[in-house]
Amino acid sequence: MNENIEEIKQRLQQLRSDIEHHNYRYYVLDQPSIPDAEYDKLFRELQQLEQDYPQLIAADSPTQRVGAAPLKTFAQITHVIPMLSLSNAFEDDEVEAFDRRVRAGLALEAAGVAWIDSDPLTVEYNAEPKFDGLAVSLRYENGVFKTGATRGDGYTGEDITLNLKTIRSIPLKLPVNNPPALLEVRGEVLMLKKDFQRLNQQQSAKGEKEFANPRNAAAGSLRQLDPNITARRRLAFFAYGIGDSQDTCLPKATHSDLMAYLSSLHFPIAKESQVVMGLKGLLEYYQVIAAKRENLPYDIDGVVYKVNAIAQQEQLGFVSRAPRFAIAHKFPAQEAMTKLLDIDVQVGRTGALTPVARLQPVFVGGVTVTNATLHNADEVERKDVRIGDTVIVRRAGDVIPEVVSVVPEKRSPDALVFTMPSHCPVCGAKAVRLPGETVSRCTGGLFCPAQRKQAILHFASRRAMDIDGLGEKLVDQLVDQTIVRTPADLYRLGIAALANLERMADKSANNIVKAIENSKQTTLARFIYALGIRNVGEATAKDLAVHLGSMDRLMTADSERLQQIPDVGPVVAQSIVDFFAETHNCEVVEQLRACGVNWNEHDGKPVAAANTAPLQGKTFVLTGTLPHMSREEVKEKIEAQGGKVSGSVSSKTDYVVVGTDPGSKYDKAVSLGVAILDEDGLLTLLGGS
Ligand code: IVH
Repeated sequence: MNENIEEIKQRLQQLRSDIEHHNYRYYVLDQPSIPDAEYDKLFRELQQLEQDYPQLIAADSPTQRVGAAPLKTFAQITHVIPMLSLSNAFEDDEVEAFDRRVRAGLALEAAGVAWIDSDPLTVEYNAEPKFDGLAVSLRYENGVFKTGATRGDGYTGEDITLNLKTIRSIPLKLPVNNPPALLEVRGEVLMLKKDFQRLNQQQSAKGEKEFANPRNAAAGSLRQLDPNITARRRLAFFAYGIGDSQDTCLPKATHSDLMAYLSSLHFPIAKESQVVMGLKGLLEYYQVIAAKRENLPYDIDGVVYKVNAIAQQEQLGFVSRAPRFAIAHKFPAQEAMTKLLDIDVQVGRTGALTPVARLQPVFVGGVTVTNATLHNADEVERKDVRIGDTVIVRRAGDVIPEVVSVVPEKRSPDALVFTMPSHCPVCGAKAVRLPGETVSRCTGGLFCPAQRKQAILHFASRRAMDIDGLGEKLVDQLVDQTIVRTPADLYRLGIAALANLERMADKSANNIVKAIENSKQTTLARFIYALGIRNVGEATAKDLAVHLGSMDRLMTADSERLQQIPDVGPVVAQSIVDFFAETHNCEVVEQLRACGVNWNEHDGKPVAAANTAPLQGKTFVLTGTLPHMSREEVKEKIEAQGGKVSGSVSSKTDYVVVGTDPGSKYDKAVSLGVAILDEDGLLTLLGGS
């Protein structure tokens, strides 16, 4: 055995660096270059070798990211260079004052005199998002990740090394031949919005408490004594600076160079960072990011401006606990105080009765809010919210505004205690609260007009069937006048029926009919999601589509089969089985198909068996621009799964992938009847997200 120990060592090294390379492509670049099954194979080989040669296990091996034993407490770590905080600005004039101070500070040094009012100096800044997560510090010694700590009080933090190791986008080893003796990378750990939604769906399916926002979810996951829990949560890391270092390669000129250097060491950095000039550049950047905020993959609570030149940063120095060369420009406060005028009860898509606070209009997070959710009866009781109270309302990003708490000192003696109604306020059916559930539900099902409306709105929503223009007002009328009872009725709507409705001209009726027609060509994942099965969100719908590949398989799958699909537990499986046990639901699916709603089906992705080339023998043609992927990426992904990309459409083409502004290839595909995929459809086929 000994003679090949060198070979084993080499193989281990190769596997480790390959796996870390694929982690980087997947978690940092979001561009995987091999199928999951192939990755799993490499990982299993590494695990097996390390099991056979335990003496060769290294702390920086990808296998060491998970599996560590729970700690009793966190050890303390002292930050050699303190982790300071930033001063805040809320208004433009505070940013103006910051820029003025910076220019004064620099001019003062240069000219050796006090503040010069007509200072012409325009400062170069690096502007970047202010991540709403948790600050951490990662210490690399000779290129190997050694310890990681929370910010704590800025001087001492907690040793959360084991938890940080589970974050796949954090390199365990720097990808360079001559690593620096010491490099401390600082940045933020957060949870991406999509992972947060997925986590909360899982929490709710398990009957466990949901997290209020991605920040809380990230904090709750990172401060676990058991790193195996952290490993199950998907956390992300973004670098925004450095701490201590002994690194001869470290760029000395600008912060932006430093960030590029960290990126070259495979640390994720914000794509939205930008070098801008002067106050004007700062304020423009703020507007651009504010407009993008909702569509960013992570939560931010403002932007950060840093003087870009490191020499200038040093010149400006620090004041008490914050640098003079940087400032956070925060978004408007997301909490405000107002009066709760009344509590109504709304009926949701699944019959859930939600108490909703009617508020005295209040400006919060940049918009006027008049309603806020109170979630459920338990929450109303826990927060002791009464009608007539003064309350704190929060509006964070695009989430529904909520009542956070009551201001007890402002309670008047005639404030009224609220009780949940025993019957549905819309259809009058009995409301029931099942054991273990926090919500009461209307038992009227789709006979309840409120549930029917919500079901149709969900069916038509952007991420489901994407029927443009089918909004709340229109659905209200369609349901109230019993023109539409099920989603299938939408596909039987004529222009005449629509044009008769209030606020509906011929042109808009025409547009809606067109939008309905366009929605017929969809993907299996979208269709499953559109059905509104309880506990089946977008991510689960995609998983179901990938693993089952056909509607019939979904409709006939039993709970056991469903639970073989990753992330499908007993609760989700039962919801699906219950949904299709309802003949009415199966009928609607059949009617939709009969109306021409269609999607591509495939054989599904086997759950256990390795499936390295699922697209073997399939030919694809690309036309137009896809929203999120370049042609090269698409090609790479298809080829990685055994498919072929060809330049022209013929009867041998299996799929044409269509983006915006497609060329004649699209027309040809239609005339030849070749299957057409959009980006979502392609990703589903690829088994990605
Ligand atoms: S730089 C000297 N850049 O904001 C301070 N901080 O209030 C260096 N934060 O604790 C911090 N995004 O957790 C910096 N792009 C960014 C940031 C950022 C978020 C957080 C960080 C820090 C807090 C400061």
